Amino acid sequence: MLKLDDVSLYYGRVHALRGISLEVPEGRIVSLLGANGAGKSSTLKVISGLCAPQSGDVRLNGESVQGRSCGDLVKNGVIHCPEGGGFFRSSPWRKIYV
Ligand SMILES: Nc1ncnc2c1ncn2[C@@H]1O[C@H](COP(=O)(O)OP(=O)(O)O)[C@@H](O)[C@H]1O
Ligand SMILES: [Mg+2]
Repeated sequence: MLKLDDVSLYYGRVHALRGISLEVPEGRIVSLLGANGAGKSSTLKVISGLCAPQSGDVRLNGESVQGRSCGDLVKNGVIHCPEGGGFFRSSPWRKIYV
Protein backbone atom coordinates (compact mmCIF):
# COMPACT_ATOMS: atom_id res chain seq x y z
CA MET A 1 0.00 0.00 0.00
CA LEU A 2 1.11 3.53 -0.83
CA LYS A 3 0.20 6.36 1.50
CA LEU A 4 0.90 10.10 1.35
CA ASP A 5 0.25 12.10 4.48
CA ASP A 6 0.13 15.91 4.41
CA VAL A 7 2.92 16.24 1.82
CA SER A 8 4.23 19.70 0.91
CA LEU A 9 6.79 20.46 -1.77
CA TYR A 10 8.49 23.71 -2.76
CA TYR A 11 10.57 24.47 -5.85
CA GLY A 12 12.47 27.41 -4.44
CA ARG A 13 9.71 29.91 -3.60
CA VAL A 14 7.03 28.04 -5.58
CA HIS A 15 4.74 26.10 -3.23
CA ALA A 16 3.82 23.25 -5.59
CA LEU A 17 2.14 20.78 -3.20
CA ARG A 18 0.11 21.86 -0.18
CA GLY A 19 -0.76 19.10 2.22
CA ILE A 20 -1.40 16.23 -0.20
CA SER A 21 -2.85 13.11 1.44
CA LEU A 22 -3.90 10.01 -0.49
CA GLU A 23 -3.90 6.24 -0.29
CA VAL A 24 -3.42 3.58 -2.94
CA PRO A 25 -4.53 0.28 -1.39
CA GLU A 26 -2.98 -2.92 -2.71
CA GLY A 27 -4.64 -4.14 -5.92
CA ARG A 28 -6.43 -0.85 -6.58
CA ILE A 29 -6.00 1.68 -9.39
CA VAL A 30 -6.07 5.34 -8.35
CA SER A 31 -6.13 8.24 -10.84
CA LEU A 32 -4.85 11.71 -10.08
CA LEU A 33 -6.80 14.40 -11.97
CA GLY A 34 -6.14 18.11 -12.16
CA ALA A 35 -5.53 21.15 -14.34
CA ASN A 36 -2.12 22.03 -15.73
CA GLY A 37 0.08 23.12 -12.85
CA ALA A 38 -2.12 21.51 -10.22
CA GLY A 39 0.74 19.33 -8.99
CA LYS A 40 0.14 15.90 -10.55
CA SER A 41 3.70 15.44 -11.81
CA SER A 42 5.15 16.82 -8.58
CA THR A 43 3.10 14.31 -6.59
CA LEU A 44 4.48 11.48 -8.73
CA LYS A 45 8.03 12.83 -8.37
CA VAL A 46 7.68 12.79 -4.59
CA ILE A 47 6.37 9.21 -4.70
CA SER A 48 9.20 7.98 -6.92
CA GLY A 49 11.92 9.77 -4.93
CA LEU A 50 12.82 12.32 -7.63
CA CYS A 51 11.84 15.19 -5.30
CA ALA A 52 12.09 15.27 -1.51
CA PRO A 53 9.09 16.91 0.19
CA GLN A 54 9.76 19.67 2.72
CA SER A 55 7.13 18.20 5.02
CA GLY A 56 4.79 15.25 5.25
CA ASP A 57 5.43 11.61 4.68
CA VAL A 58 5.30 9.08 1.84
CA ARG A 59 5.04 5.45 2.95
CA LEU A 60 5.33 2.35 0.81
CA ASN A 61 4.07 -0.76 2.59
CA GLY A 62 4.45 1.07 5.89
CA GLU A 63 8.03 2.26 5.33
CA SER A 64 8.97 5.85 4.60
CA VAL A 65 10.48 6.43 1.16
CA GLN A 66 12.53 9.34 2.50
CA GLY A 67 16.24 8.88 1.87
CA ARG A 68 15.73 5.78 -0.29
CA SER A 69 17.20 5.77 -3.79
CA CYS A 70 15.01 5.69 -6.90
CA GLY A 71 16.60 2.31 -7.71
CA ASP A 72 15.54 0.89 -4.37
CA LEU A 73 11.99 2.15 -4.87
CA VAL A 74 11.84 0.62 -8.37
CA LYS A 75 12.90 -2.73 -6.91
CA ASN A 76 9.99 -2.38 -4.50
CA GLY A 77 7.45 -1.79 -7.27
CA VAL A 78 7.37 1.99 -7.77
CA ILE A 79 7.57 2.60 -11.53
CA HIS A 80 7.29 6.18 -12.81
CA CYS A 81 6.71 6.59 -16.57
CA PRO A 82 7.00 10.33 -17.31
CA GLU A 83 4.51 11.86 -19.72
CA GLY A 84 5.72 12.01 -23.33
CA GLY A 85 9.21 10.87 -22.44
CA GLY A 86 9.94 9.57 -25.92
CA PHE A 87 9.17 5.91 -25.27
CA PHE A 88 7.64 5.57 -28.70
CA ARG A 89 9.70 6.90 -31.60
CA SER A 90 6.69 7.84 -33.72
CA SER A 91 4.72 9.60 -30.97
CA PRO A 92 3.81 13.21 -31.87
CA TRP A 93 4.14 14.03 -28.15
CA ARG A 94 7.67 12.71 -27.72
CA LYS A 95 9.18 16.18 -27.21
CA ILE A 96 6.86 17.04 -24.30
CA TYR A 97 8.28 16.30 -20.86
CA VAL A 98 6.78 16.29 -17.36
N1 LIG B 1 11.08 22.41 -11.79
C1 LIG B 1 10.21 23.33 -11.36
N2 LIG B 1 10.63 24.52 -10.90
C2 LIG B 1 9.75 25.46 -10.44
N3 LIG B 1 8.42 25.29 -10.41
C3 LIG B 1 7.95 24.10 -10.86
C4 LIG B 1 8.81 23.07 -11.36
N4 LIG B 1 8.05 22.00 -11.74
C5 LIG B 1 6.78 22.38 -11.50
N5 LIG B 1 6.72 23.63 -10.98
C6 LIG B 1 5.50 24.35 -10.56
O1 LIG B 1 4.85 23.52 -9.59
C7 LIG B 1 3.44 23.55 -9.79
C8 LIG B 1 2.94 22.15 -10.04
O2 LIG B 1 3.46 21.70 -11.31
P1 LIG B 1 3.28 20.22 -11.84
O3 LIG B 1 3.50 19.27 -10.72
O4 LIG B 1 4.16 20.10 -13.04
O5 LIG B 1 1.75 20.20 -12.25
P2 LIG B 1 0.94 19.24 -13.26
O6 LIG B 1 1.76 18.03 -13.53
O7 LIG B 1 -0.35 18.95 -12.55
O8 LIG B 1 0.72 20.05 -14.51
C9 LIG B 1 3.19 24.55 -10.93
O9 LIG B 1 2.95 25.81 -10.33
C10 LIG B 1 4.50 24.54 -11.69
O10 LIG B 1 4.71 25.75 -12.37
MG1 LIG C 1 2.48 17.11 -15.33
